[in-house]
Amino acid sequence: MPAETNSINANNERLFESVQLGPYLLRNRIVMAPLTRSRATEGDVPSEMAILYYAQRASAGLIIAEATQISPQGKGYVFTPGIYNQTQVDAWKKITEAVHAKDGRIYLQLWHVGRISHPSIQPNNELPVAPSAITPEGQAYTNDGFVPLVTPRALRLEEMPGIVEQYRQAAKYALAAGFDGVEIHAANGYLLDQFLRDKTNQRTDAYGGSIENRVRLLVEVTEAVTAVWGGNRVGLRISPLSKFGDIWDSNPQALFTHVVEKLNAFKLAYLHVIEGDTGGEREVAGGFDLQILRALFNGAYMANNGYDAALADHRLDAGKADLIAFGRPFISNPDLVERMRTSAPLSEPDPKTMYGGDGHGYIDYPTLSGSVAA
Ligand code: PHB
Repeated sequence: MPAETNSINANNERLFESVQLGPYLLRNRIVMAPLTRSRATEGDVPSEMAILYYAQRASAGLIIAEATQISPQGKGYVFTPGIYNQTQVDAWKKITEAVHAKDGRIYLQLWHVGRISHPSIQPNNELPVAPSAITPEGQAYTNDGFVPLVTPRALRLEEMPGIVEQYRQAAKYALAAGFDGVEIHAANGYLLDQFLRDKTNQRTDAYGGSIENRVRLLVEVTEAVTAVWGGNRVGLRISPLSKFGDIWDSNPQALFTHVVEKLNAFKLAYLHVIEGDTGGEREVAGGFDLQILRALFNGAYMANNGYDAALADHRLDAGKADLIAFGRPFISNPDLVERMRTSAPLSEPDPKTMYGGDGHGYIDYPTLSGSVAA
């Protein structure tokens, strides 16, 4: 074995330590990040294939299941799953049971896309909703393929309690589906992020203007979700420095400091931070030291974005993270934990089968031993 491999092995033991997260003792610090795979069936119901897909990856300390719309209005892409009716709950239940049968833990990511949608996938072909009627750059993925995003409709003040109720109801459904917890998706330019940022939120009511007002919806949603689950089974994902979803803020430092100060009241299990630009550069200009958020936050810090085992080990060792979430490597390595433990080579995911399609590129990536995982 080359010396280099040995040294990675010797160093990266912290990844494989068990760690307490809320009420759960996770068997390692490796988290499967939420990954959109676009294989849900009619009615936004997770497919039968998803049972095997998640079970194959149950050796992760924690799985965060893919972004899942909390309502028909929260949907932004074709073939993403939902958590807003009993049929979906029944399908998710089979998935959580399969993961639990392998002693894994699984959270669900609660998602409302806001303006990143299209009338053709909205109820009654209505306009997508947003804090303000500002058109995002980019394309929607619809039944007709990629089409330009449209100008959304600004939510009326009296609609805001209804948005919070969508999250509360979805949190209850997630509980009924047997998840171990939920992650509130406040990242990547979707609805909650749209409210946080001054580029997308130009409201003049109680939900816009000052930082306190822009953070209000996130606080109300967190209150509703933790009322269902308790704070210690709820995580929250942010992407303070990302431009994903055509988002930006003039003062992210002050904004996200305030976010964390507010979140601390809920004693959440973890803060999941996409470091840098989502799926891209970890170091971005004009940013700030994310460690300020880590120091301020009173729960576990879960780091994500472009990690490999060596960087993960380095950041854990330096005390800069408690958990590391891996996205793309989990697509093509169902046994990622074992491969990292043994410093084995990783296989690369095929971009053609990342989104949509059948079981190919989804449930047929082999384990190290060459077999397709059970
Ligand atoms: C996507 O479906 O492309 C997607 C979903 C959730 C994210 C990012 C991307 O946070």
